[in-house]
Amino acid sequence: MRISLRLIVALAVAATLVSFLFAYYQVRAEKRSLRIDLERRAELLAESLQQSVEPLMGQNSRRSLQRLVSRFGNRAELAGIAVYGENGELLAATPNLQPELRVPRPAIESAKKANQGVNEYFRQGQSLMEVYAVPLHREDQVIGALAVFHDATYIESQSKEIWRRTLLHVFVQMLVIIFVTVLVVRWSIVGPIARMAAWMRELRTGRAPPRPVMPSGDADLLRPLAQEVTHLARSLTAARASAEEEARLRESGESLWTAERLRIHLQSKLEENALYAISNREPYEHVFRGKEIVTMVPASGLVTALEPVLEACHGTWIAQGTGDADRETVDEHDRLRVPPQDPQYTLRRVWLTKEEEAGYYFGFANEGLWPLCHIAHNRPIFRAEDFHYYQQVNQKFAKAALEEMTEARQPLVLVQDYHFALLPRLIKQKRPDARVAIFWHIPWPNPEAFGICPWQRELLDGLLGADLIGFQIQSHCNNFLETVDRTLESRIDWERFAVSRRNHSTLVRPFPISVAFSENATRSSDGNPGWPDRSALFRDLGVEGAFLGIGVDRIDYTKGIPERLRGIERFLEKYPAYQGQFTFVQIAAPSRSHIRRYRELQSEIESEVDRINFKFRKGHWQPIILLKRHHSHREIEQFYRAAHLCVVTSLHDGMNLVAKEFVAARDDEQGVLILSRFTGAARELRDALIVNPYDTEQLADCIRTALEMDPEERRARMRRMREVVKDHNIYRWAASLITELADIRLEKPQAAKVARGFVC
Ligand code: G6P
Repeated sequence: MRISLRLIVALAVAATLVSFLFAYYQVRAEKRSLRIDLERRAELLAESLQQSVEPLMGQNSRRSLQRLVSRFGNRAELAGIAVYGENGELLAATPNLQPELRVPRPAIESAKKANQGVNEYFRQGQSLMEVYAVPLHREDQVIGALAVFHDATYIESQSKEIWRRTLLHVFVQMLVIIFVTVLVVRWSIVGPIARMAAWMRELRTGRAPPRPVMPSGDADLLRPLAQEVTHLARSLTAARASAEEEARLRESGESLWTAERLRIHLQSKLEENALYAISNREPYEHVFRGKEIVTMVPASGLVTALEPVLEACHGTWIAQGTGDADRETVDEHDRLRVPPQDPQYTLRRVWLTKEEEAGYYFGFANEGLWPLCHIAHNRPIFRAEDFHYYQQVNQKFAKAALEEMTEARQPLVLVQDYHFALLPRLIKQKRPDARVAIFWHIPWPNPEAFGICPWQRELLDGLLGADLIGFQIQSHCNNFLETVDRTLESRIDWERFAVSRRNHSTLVRPFPISVAFSENATRSSDGNPGWPDRSALFRDLGVEGAFLGIGVDRIDYTKGIPERLRGIERFLEKYPAYQGQFTFVQIAAPSRSHIRRYRELQSEIESEVDRINFKFRKGHWQPIILLKRHHSHREIEQFYRAAHLCVVTSLHDGMNLVAKEFVAARDDEQGVLILSRFTGAARELRDALIVNPYDTEQLADCIRTALEMDPEERRARMRRMREVVKDHNIYRWAASLITELADIRLEKPQAAKVARGFVC
């Protein structure tokens, strides 16, 4: 109640002050205008009388004077008229002029002296009087004066009336203020706070499942608080759910990996040792939208996979700052805490120059190594200048990582991907006490294919600085070991899958990467229950259709998008009954567009989509919808859940997490996955319809099989795939990779120091 009282008093004082100020000015203005009006009337009367009185002066015709004056006697507020002679003697007066007023006023003398009209206000008993005197002449000589008296008391009464009305207003205002304040405080503060408190109590006691968003009603004032508490509540609910899940798993003896289990496992494994992940792509990018800064999650399988791990172990992620507003959001050490809604770990940004980005990222990594490792019939380009920048940037990241690790004892370092083949050795040279792993997310080709790289020795030497090298599947490990065997002087232990070189040993292991899996995908991310309505999705896209297919990719030639489009075209030709029925939505995130091959691919895809749509389009139906922009996970999930089938046709892919994300999203156990046999995922997801994306006929038939599959078979396949993804989720990946790394015995410093520099 104290806040209401304070509000009431403050508002009342302010309103009263304002009312009085206004009243004061109103009274002043009113008084002025009434006086001006009165004076003007007196002046007019006096002047018109003056002309009639002057001729009668001096003729000793007092009676005519008296008669003339008496005619003006009874006007409103006129108290009387008097005519005075040269020495102030009264010559004539209206009968109503009170005797006290007949005595000449100072205004009479002043008018005569100044030879002009003079006004005077004076008190007569209770009344305020006004007199206007004008001189009377004969042949330019002042011979007397005429005075017009008015009762001006009404001017004072009007002012009093204004003050009286103001007081009444103030009183009514007070009542209104008190009423409205009490009402607003109740509705907007007390009420919402009571509801919030009830909601928090519900949450704390866990008696009933709380609503996902904290109620703040319309109280804008409480909205920021509500948002923060909602995040807090979500973390609490998630923590409670994972604790319950942990207990359930312990009880049932299941070996499922969860975020919580990983966190606890890492706590005991890492003890004091901090964990650092290094990748080129950052998990959150800040970009300007007009003047506003928005956060984006880049389209990258690596980011999808690594984020839950960093969240679970609260480590540090070192990555390139690529957003145009990235510098605005870091502290003086180029760090920030993420995820923005619920910070769990540190992101350290590294800045690259334009030349570095062009040479290292677009050049060596993406025009050289990417096509080198993916057998997708795209010729790699190797430029010495690009490799120079690749070395420079690896050194830059090594420097940043070493800075971050200054305080850490025996840190664990997880280097990510083909952007940093040189980094393991650079770190290990400076910090032999660090345990360093590199995970190669993309395929490793056979030795002949890799051998065309002019710097293969340098790359292999850099990689072998690591204690552990991870690949997606066993055959990539085999290819790697064979490549080392053919290229470098080293000892390969095929039993242990290890390479010994210069007294340093590197283990090589497969760790199939995955996604986080939640039993209740529909409710997991934001507590938003319910299934998306497929027809609503079609409506939003502006088409009609009965069957929905989905593809989600970065626009990359390894993803086999043109092959997929040809498969869809063939399907519609071969099975025309599906024309007007089947629509395929291709979500395509533009990627690496500074590289010519990627730009060409974009236009190739666009014109293929146009061609096929033109060929089959009927009324409101069209076979392919190309959504060529970045989509958030939430937007993509809607399509995953609404689709009858998902198509992954990579020509070569380390793993492909789209396949696993689709399976993880289908907690209705529906939907069919069509999966390229050239993906790492095809080794695990055996219940997908496995295709060769180059085989257009097979692809067309698979789409039909998927659409016509017996519902029971569809369910059984999806259920089995979900078991695989659930069991081999990202937490298991992280646990096995980090456990393997943490269990490695560090070599004696001297031995490690011997391995230095590149081999020619
Ligand atoms: C692949 C790579 C990742 C990379 C991602 C997106 O998944 O393995 O390292 O982040 O593609 O590519 P981009 O070049 O945009 O990071």
